[in-house]
Amino acid sequence: MSDHTPNDGTTGHEWDGIRELTNKPPKWWALGFYAGLTFVTCYYIIYPSTPMNNKVQEVVNGVTGMEVFVHGHTKGIMGIISDNPYYQGEEWTQAEIDVLVAKGHNELTIKAGDLKYQDGWTAINEMRDNVADIEAVRATSMAKLDSMSVDEIIADDDMLAFAMGRSRVLFGDSCAACHSSGGQGNLNETHPGNSFPNLTDDDWLFGGWSEKIVETITDGREASMPAKGGNDDLTAANVSELADFVVALSTGDAELDNDGMLTKGESFLPANALFQETCSACHGANAQGSMANYDFDGGAVNLTDGIWRFGGSLATITETITQGRTGKMPSFAGKLDATSIKILAVRVHQLGGGMAEEPMEPEEIEEDMMDETTAETSMDEAV
Ligand code: HEC
Ligand code: HEC
Repeated sequence: MSDHTPNDGTTGHEWDGIRELTNKPPKWWALGFYAGLTFVTCYYIIYPSTPMNNKVQEVVNGVTGMEVFVHGHTKGIMGIISDNPYYQGEEWTQAEIDVLVAKGHNELTIKAGDLKYQDGWTAINEMRDNVADIEAVRATSMAKLDSMSVDEIIADDDMLAFAMGRSRVLFGDSCAACHSSGGQGNLNETHPGNSFPNLTDDDWLFGGWSEKIVETITDGREASMPAKGGNDDLTAANVSELADFVVALSTGDAELDNDGMLTKGESFLPANALFQETCSACHGANAQGSMANYDFDGGAVNLTDGIWRFGGSLATITETITQGRTGKMPSFAGKLDATSIKILAVRVHQLGGGMAEEPMEPEEIEEDMMDETTAETSMDEAV
């Protein structure tokens, strides 16, 4: 090493041919460095910082008998200039002390006016108080949920928002594995049997009014499509005919009326004869499924709407008819409490086209109208 600084932009140091230059650091770097220094200094002065005054505190938030090692610290000028109560240190009120005494902490050494946090404001104390505030609000809303029905919650904007917020994680934990996180289900083309229904549409297998959704979640569902519709006499050729017919029903190339008569697609007459004999008992003479035929527990799919539970390709439909299908929606009765099931029902109802109420059968509507007419006549008679 040489002890003079040569004028060639180096320090004159050289190791194995590597020379040390005297370049200044880049401007952006220097600016960043000084800005950082300034920030740290200001932060240090403004906020609580230097650890000191560590001691054992025997009163924690006014409750005696607890010994806690307190890490004291300088308070920072925030304590002087900010009117945030946490920087000032919040004071105990007599009402708060009374609450503690009522809880059995009767050896309190604090009195109204004492500072709440002996070490002034800390982020953790502020957080604890905020959490306590949120929990207090939640507790009130949770209690309110308990007393409301699914429909009442849906009709109340605030409670609806609360229920949707609370049920998001619940849905993720309990339902998303099968129905996907958004509830859109999963049509598994490789393994159609592992498909799960979409909860975001208004195509219901078991009914989309509130009581029915609660029932589905509580008790679970196990709809079963027997192999060959339970008719062992069906040949492979019959199955293939039926599969073609099911495709045609879904594309509109064949149409059935409510009595099971073909109104379109004459070439499917033989297939329809098979369908009416074997399949209509569950899927309905019109092939529109259990729901459309006022059976709210059968779960037989509507075959005319092009919405598929397992898949609508000819191959999948043939497989469905040949092997049958058994979907299983687990029961959550023992796993979730009533309120959780309730808010999940709210969520499912809101996700898709939730139904306002149980649909009425045409005969029931007629009976209803008859009742009204009778009521009117008897009123007339009374007058
Ligand atoms: C293990 C998979 C699985 C899990 C977990 C699951 N489900 Fe299901 N769910 C199904 C299957 C399968 C069906 C269809 C049943 C059938 O076809 O017989 C279904 C059907 C439903 C239906 C009926 C839809 C209709 O159209 O009528 C609702 C509602 C429902 N699930 C809600 C939920 C909710 C809410 C959760 C979470 C608490 C949940 N499911 C968890 C598999 C699951
Ligand atoms: C005992 C009642 C019953 C009979 C009989 C029956 N099905 Fe089904 N079918 C169902 C049920 C229930 C489902 C839905 C199964 C599930 O969700 O787990 C279903 C599902 C299907 C599907 C799947 C549709 C989709 O969306 O993926 C097809 C296709 C089908 N059935 C066709 C037929 C045909 C054709 C026949 C006559 C050979 C028939 N079914 C007879 C009850 C029945």
